Amino acid sequence: MSRTLAILKPDCVRKNLIGKVISHIQDAGFKILAMKMIHLTEDSAKGFYEIHKERPFFNELITYMTSGPCVPIALEKENAVEDFRKIIGATDPAKAEEGTIRKLYAENIQENIVHGSDSDENAAKEISHFFSRKEILENNGWK
Ligand code: PPS
Repeated sequence: MSRTLAILKPDCVRKNLIGKVISHIQDAGFKILAMKMIHLTEDSAKGFYEIHKERPFFNELITYMTSGPCVPIALEKENAVEDFRKIIGATDPAKAEEGTIRKLYAENIQENIVHGSDSDENAAKEISHFFSRKEILENNGWK
């Protein structure tokens, strides 16, 4: 089993799509280990997206990610990082495959509904950005 970090981004929350997107994720076989709704501060968003700080869209990305609440979710599945990126589709929804979350619901490359970690190493860092060890439920919380 491996883990990935999803964030249902502010456009997902604003459009009342939380339920639909979580259903899509669960139907694809992912288990939820931890989940919360938060409003990212500027400092927290800048820390999370540190690796993109030299990119031209960085300030817009931070403004957007702090524009309203979002829902970080720690997920578990075999091959979690790769399989999650498959079900969300390409970063730009115009290039995303049919049936993917971004193709179904996203507006554009910025308002693209959901984040997914891009490697196991980053997944571990990103999960710890939002959740303490105690908040992560082993076995999906069930014995
Ligand atoms: S990825 O998923 O890391 O491979 O995608 P990447 O293209 O490197 O983009 C990194 C994150 O930046 C967001 N992004 C943008 N935001 C605003 N404007 C533009 N033009 C833009 N291009 C990319 C993209 O949605 C990625 O966010 P996350 O949260 O990582 O999905």
